[in-house]
Amino acid sequence: MNNFRVNHDRLWNSLMDMAKIGATEKGGVCRLTLTDVDKEARDLFVNWCKDAGCEVSIDEMGNIFARRAGKNNSLAPVMTGSHIDSQPTGGKYDGIYGVLAGLEVIRTLNDMGIETERPIEVTSWTNEEGSRFAPAMIASGVFGGVFDLEYGLSRKDADGKTIGEELKRIGYAGPEKCGGREISAFFEVHIEQGPILEAEEKTIGVVQGVQGMRWYDVEVIGMESHAGTTPMERRKDAIVGASRMVDALSDIGNENTPDARTTCGVFEVSPGSRNVIPGSVSFTVDIRHPDSDILKKLGEDFRDRCEKITYEMSLELKFDEIWHSPPVKFNDDCINAVASAAESLGLESRPITSGAGHDAVYVSKVAPASMIFIPCADGISHNEVESATKGDVSAGCDVLLNAMLERANSV
Ligand code: GLV
Ligand code: MN
Ligand code: MN
Repeated sequence: MNNFRVNHDRLWNSLMDMAKIGATEKGGVCRLTLTDVDKEARDLFVNWCKDAGCEVSIDEMGNIFARRAGKNNSLAPVMTGSHIDSQPTGGKYDGIYGVLAGLEVIRTLNDMGIETERPIEVTSWTNEEGSRFAPAMIASGVFGGVFDLEYGLSRKDADGKTIGEELKRIGYAGPEKCGGREISAFFEVHIEQGPILEAEEKTIGVVQGVQGMRWYDVEVIGMESHAGTTPMERRKDAIVGASRMVDALSDIGNENTPDARTTCGVFEVSPGSRNVIPGSVSFTVDIRHPDSDILKKLGEDFRDRCEKITYEMSLELKFDEIWHSPPVKFNDDCINAVASAAESLGLESRPITSGAGHDAVYVSKVAPASMIFIPCADGISHNEVESATKGDVSAGCDVLLNAMLERANSV
């Protein structure tokens, strides 16, 4: 294994330049999928890739592929990438680091005049976050054969706009078929988004797999009535029922420590008037666990508790599971390539399981895949204060370069 290094200043400067697009006052970014700022960031990335001599193609889901030719272009490429979109109050690193690290690998290979046997590709996947359009990882999911194209293009945002319409609007509804592109190995570098690496003073997380996730949409229906005149015992109060359900959701998480994660991230009250008892409440649920059977039981337990509350309070319940991503174990050869690259660079590493979802989950359905994590400050992510050091950002990209080189020269 080699121990080449990328251009650390250039990588950092590119990250900071990109962070100006959608920059928020608190130092983060808001680059929701397929908005004008997403387009602006995509355009900048595509221009940088073209400047680096890549051939760029876009598929039907708006995924971007930038290809650096190899010695033998009939061989399947080694690919890396992540996502450009962010949470509404997102940070400067989640996703975009993995995209720009891929670009930096290509720029470094150009500087060093290295020709790899296989082509190298860097990708940006559309709508990883699942914030504007649910579910998450939608376009890598279509690519990986987990969702069909029709499903992917028809996902709607809160205003009823579809992914398909918004892709056309920003000029990223590409001509290439989504899926079927051969990949010999896929690596994704990302901040950990949790506290483990920082606490253990390790620079590199050698990611073994990703925990399972289930998403639900819940609607609780009661009856709107007057806040001043309706006696307490006559009420069908949707917000009280929904609040008890959210409390039960949190209980389930706390009863299943250390591995369970249960979250209500969106809670919408209708009609939303101070002196009207709410007639309906809709809320979102995100439940995660590394064990598939336990994850299933947690979802069932939550549904049982919601039904009990519904019955006791004479409410109605609509309960839909809108997404299930089972736990994933990454490919051993890719994992080993990452571990060896970290070792040859003299970096402290540890195996780790990802608590967050990533595009590598769905790419792993069609190609050998694994991930590289670096620490982030206090383990905080999905927050504008998200931060990582230049040293760690550089180290993760160095590992990516060497792991990709190893795979790109093995034929
Ligand atoms: C993706 O950001 C996730 O929710 O894990
Ligand atoms: Mn991400
Ligand atoms: Mn994210």
